[in-house]
Amino acid sequence: MNNKNNIKKRPARLRSTKSLRSLNSELALDTKDLICPIFIKKGRNIKNEVESMPDIYQFSLDMVFYEIEYLLNHNIDKFILFGITDKKDEFGSDALSDSGIIQKSLKEIKKRFPEILLITDLCMCEYTSHGHCGILNDGKLDNDETLKHIQKQAVSHADFGADIIAPSGMIDNGVKHVRLALDSNNHKNIPIMSYSAKFASNFYGPFRYAAESSPQHGDRKSYQMSYENRKEAIKEVQLDIEEGADIIMVKPALSFLDIIRDVKNTVNLPVAAYNVSGEYSMVKAASKLNWIDEAKVRHEILTSIKRAGADMIITYFTKSFAESLK
Ligand code: PBG
Repeated sequence: MNNKNNIKKRPARLRSTKSLRSLNSELALDTKDLICPIFIKKGRNIKNEVESMPDIYQFSLDMVFYEIEYLLNHNIDKFILFGITDKKDEFGSDALSDSGIIQKSLKEIKKRFPEILLITDLCMCEYTSHGHCGILNDGKLDNDETLKHIQKQAVSHADFGADIIAPSGMIDNGVKHVRLALDSNNHKNIPIMSYSAKFASNFYGPFRYAAESSPQHGDRKSYQMSYENRKEAIKEVQLDIEEGADIIMVKPALSFLDIIRDVKNTVNLPVAAYNVSGEYSMVKAASKLNWIDEAKVRHEILTSIKRAGADMIITYFTKSFAESLK
């Protein structure tokens, strides 16, 4: 008899064996979606573990080559570069130098590994003596002066071989100005991955040790967004799209999964998420104490970011995730 009320609903049927669970799985993590951050420092023979980020290193360029080769052998071919300099000044001049750390790295890495994808973080905080993401005027970030600087920095990165430029300073009209500068300097085809929805987060602490980029006074709340704000994130994203962004980023990822989903539902562009340093270091610390299983938690975290809507993920877990597949 076809009496609907007698049919018991049993969603667990599709969970009863490993192969049924696999058949029923809605998404799979793939190394192709992961972007590995790399910190590069001037000097030779340097491989310094970052105290606040176990298993993450500051490399000198000669040591980076080994790391990249290793990662390529584990199917990781996308990197975002962060440069660390000891030549800091008020204006972040070293960011523009032809012999700057990013410029040299782009050139030398591309020479050895022409097929890989190199993204550059476009920001001034690693180069300014005050550690802020732009030029200061009366102690405050001068948005429009900063635009001129990041235009030059973007062109320099593209000249030296960057495949994607990622403005990360939350500078108003930044994407537009970077696009104009790239277009008028023979780089029409270099995409912009904009840190569009970047929040003034407390999860960046460990990175600032790694990149030696902590603000020497104050905080970044006058340019990065407040984490209460959801609609403002969409506004920033829409502005960046109008200004010519090719890829939209949400950062951080874990406390902002709702924002990733909002953005994914709103835009037709690829969405990137940055699983930031604090999110990484919390897992490393808890697993060191045997309070959680690092590999399983890593998998769950990366899956949740993808499920929220990220098409690509910048994460310090890239290497260990790739190793776990071998
Ligand atoms: C800015 C930049 C920061 C991060 C990436 N690019 C730091 C900041 O805004 O203070 C943080 C990434 C992380 O925490 O992993 N150059």
